[in-house]
Amino acid sequence: MPIDHLQIVGVRNLESVVIEPSPTINIICGINGSGKTSILESIHLLGLARSFRSSKIQPIIQHGENCCTVFGRLDDGYPIGIQRLTDGELLIKYAGKRLFSVAELACKLPLIIITPDTFQLVSGSPSLRRQFIDWGVFHVEHTFLTYWKNTRKILKQRNNLLKNGTISHSQVAAWDISLIENAEKVDQFRSNYINQLKNLFNQIVEILIDIKELKFSYYRGWDNEKKYSEVLSSNFQRDSKLGYTNLGPHKADLKITVGNRLATDVLSRGQQKIIVCALKIAQGLLFQQQLQRPCIFLIDDLASELDQHFRNNICQLLEGSGAQVFITAIDNLLITNSWNNKSKVKMFHVEHGQVKEMQP
Ligand SMILES: Nc1ncnc2c1ncn2[C@@H]1O[C@H](COP(=O)(O)OP(=O)(O)OP(=O)(O)O)[C@@H](O)[C@H]1O
Ligand SMILES: [Mg+2]
Repeated sequence: MPIDHLQIVGVRNLESVVIEPSPTINIICGINGSGKTSILESIHLLGLARSFRSSKIQPIIQHGENCCTVFGRLDDGYPIGIQRLTDGELLIKYAGKRLFSVAELACKLPLIIITPDTFQLVSGSPSLRRQFIDWGVFHVEHTFLTYWKNTRKILKQRNNLLKNGTISHSQVAAWDISLIENAEKVDQFRSNYINQLKNLFNQIVEILIDIKELKFSYYRGWDNEKKYSEVLSSNFQRDSKLGYTNLGPHKADLKITVGNRLATDVLSRGQQKIIVCALKIAQGLLFQQQLQRPCIFLIDDLASELDQHFRNNICQLLEGSGAQVFITAIDNLLITNSWNNKSKVKMFHVEHGQVKEMQP
């Protein structure tokens, strides 16, 4: 659901900002340090109660203040607001009522972010790719979070017992019944999601870039040919020695390969960034198909490491997706002409934390 009114108070150098975004494309431009990323960060706060730049709240709250507030109105007319205090307190409101879970908030404002760090989705740790898969599953399968939380809780307990060496093979079997049940459910959801995403990803990659034999496949965290129960049982001695459960949905990954090599060993940084954009756009399109509503893209500094040709193609795919897009640029000219329907594009100029709407 697009945001049609946004108010930010006390986020980094944004003292007090009010904007009326376009339901489609919003360009946020300004020089280095003006506050562009802070606007995306504020929207991220509104949707997830945290920043994508810092896990702590203190650095985000304006120096000298004790809280930051972001308030928005969605195009269904409902207000949504979040306040974070330096002491960690969190207040979330939607449609006049207090919400007590960030997961509920996340459902209202489905955000997909692309920043210069996002290309680590190809080169970084598997946990980033698990987060990517789980974002998609979470929004479609409302029971997923429960199964995933259960899995993690049981794994933690199992690992504690393994580490202390206080459990025998037969005793662990009792823990494993519940672990297997939850883990298999998590795997099923993830696997279904990836199967659906694959087609869209392939179509988008084909539009964006010509890389022969580019493939992505899902690894569920244990041998595809075996049941999780068999894997846990046959690995018990090894897990006992290690002091933790070596295989399971906590090791799931998305393997991106070119021919028989890992994409990260073959592709340039720019090419990796294009692959990441393709994954994220495919995710946005699938969200739209499955939930019949658009998501919101937060895109920071798309221009870095991408040439004009790729920038234009990515912008046009974003525009065609029907999603609401907030995209930053130091030089607005780099992306102002990348859109087909310029009448829907709004441009905001940021200077020392003040924001003014301009003609694109
Ligand atoms: N807690 C804070 N309180 C006040 N100002 C802050 C705080 N944290 C950061 N800043 C300042 O906020 C400004 C905005 O930073 P931001 O990262 O949003 O800029 P930007 O426009 O994205 O810059 P760039 O083009 O370099 O990415 C910076 O000048 C920074 O020094
Ligand atoms: Mg920035």
